[in-house]
Amino acid sequence: MYNEIDLEKIDLNLAPPTEEPARQYYFMAKCQEWVHRFSEKNNRLPQACVINMGCQMNAKDSEKLAGILKNIGFELIDDEAADLVFYNTCTVRDNANQRMYGRLGLVHSLKKKNPHKKIALCGCMMQEDSVIEKIQKSYSFVDLIFGTHNIYKAAELLVTMYHSDRMIIDIWKDTDKIVEDLPAQRKYSFKSGVNIMYGCNNFCSYCIVPYVRGRERSRSSEDIIKEVKKLVSDGVVEVMLLGQNVNSYGKTLSQDISFAQLLQKIEQIDGLQRIRFMTSHPKDLSDELIDVMRQSQKICRHLHLPLQSGSTKILKAMNRCYTKEQYLELAHKIRSAIPEISLTTDIIVGFPGETSQDVDETIDVVKKVQYDNAFTFIYSKRTGTPAASMPASASSDEIKANFDRLLKVVQETARSRAGRLVGTIQSVLVEERNAHDPSLVSGRLSNNTLVHFPGDVTLIGKLVDVRLEAAHGFYYTGKMNSQ
Ligand code: SAH
Ligand code: SF4
Ligand code: F3S
Repeated sequence: MYNEIDLEKIDLNLAPPTEEPARQYYFMAKCQEWVHRFSEKNNRLPQACVINMGCQMNAKDSEKLAGILKNIGFELIDDEAADLVFYNTCTVRDNANQRMYGRLGLVHSLKKKNPHKKIALCGCMMQEDSVIEKIQKSYSFVDLIFGTHNIYKAAELLVTMYHSDRMIIDIWKDTDKIVEDLPAQRKYSFKSGVNIMYGCNNFCSYCIVPYVRGRERSRSSEDIIKEVKKLVSDGVVEVMLLGQNVNSYGKTLSQDISFAQLLQKIEQIDGLQRIRFMTSHPKDLSDELIDVMRQSQKICRHLHLPLQSGSTKILKAMNRCYTKEQYLELAHKIRSAIPEISLTTDIIVGFPGETSQDVDETIDVVKKVQYDNAFTFIYSKRTGTPAASMPASASSDEIKANFDRLLKVVQETARSRAGRLVGTIQSVLVEERNAHDPSLVSGRLSNNTLVHFPGDVTLIGKLVDVRLEAAHGFYYTGKMNSQ
């Protein structure tokens, strides 16, 4: 875990160390020199802004980037007018890429007003060759590009960027490296994501993540426990363990440890109150995990269990390695063991070869499992994935009609599920002041649903009992039990 290091003590007359993380500390110190020069000249600190455009894994990477920038001496702000702007990109669906290009157009106009402004792009989208070519050709005002594997090198790359007038590009195809002990700037003081593994080996046929995030590798359980303990001593009460498929945690380690065993170790950390995790692939979800969840006092009553499709034929083409029946059996087993659990899912509509009958099968699973919530996506073709060369079968109108049919059932089930907790008293972790009504605060139940209730900012980061008075689609309103 990162301990405050005094960058002033690093001798910059020496050559940079070759070992990590010492090398990055050296470059942070070197960047700090630049910050000092900037401050003297401009009578203010340089400002940096990190914009996160992806999933929780990306959000965690953004916190690491922000931690490095803060240590160097940048003032972190939430405004793209900053002197240095990082976009941490996503490429899971084409609309993520389109959003990024739109954003670049806007930031270009800001750069024209401030020619010293620097623009850096990183994250999943940068791992694609076609994207790099397009940026070189059409967005030549970008100053720095790096990918998912070398984010820990941000300080070193910034030093190169500030010494050059050209676009700096550093993309690695893959890595087996995990660099520990770098700083992170958390968005919330009381909760934090914790990486337990990186990459993905599942190669679902529609998905680009294994290509842009590389091969699966797990962090050692000692490093994870050390990080969680440090977070708890800093005031964190809830952790979200992050991995593309947490159920295969440990498979790349010499140490013999399963995800369920890791959870048991984390459970024992005093002061930690809630444990979440994301994402759980149905094919690897063990009975051991269900048992550990059932007995746990801290693991939240929420499981995100991506279905993707309810048709066995489509699941096979997706390379998901389970059938409709196996998924239903698993969901049943989980609900029987932990009746109060909330199940959520991801579903794709419009995969190549999918017919309306296949979507009927998906709708059948939604009705049977009774998801508390489901994220529904229209299939997006990703170049380089096996599904990209499968012929499309349905027209976009048919896909849209199927999508709407599914969404209707998803919303109906979610509404009826939410109703069942009305009138009960539940523990809520208060997260923030309500954005629309300052007399309210907002927090989350163990099952991850949002709750809004009267309260003030002193409650933020605390677990309080709230009587749920009404369900409104995806959130509740209520009152603190003592009121
Ligand atoms: N590792 C996670 C998912 C990461 S991507 C898991 O296995 O569940 C998040 C979601 O995006 C996926 O669950 C899937 O539903 C959706 N998704 C991924 N690739 C997609 C594509 N090409 N088109 C549409 N949705 C996609
Ligand atoms: Fe993509 Fe499948 Fe890996 Fe999830 S498990 S990241 S959907 S390849
Ligand atoms: Fe996440 Fe998007 Fe990358 S979903 S892993 S940020 S492609």
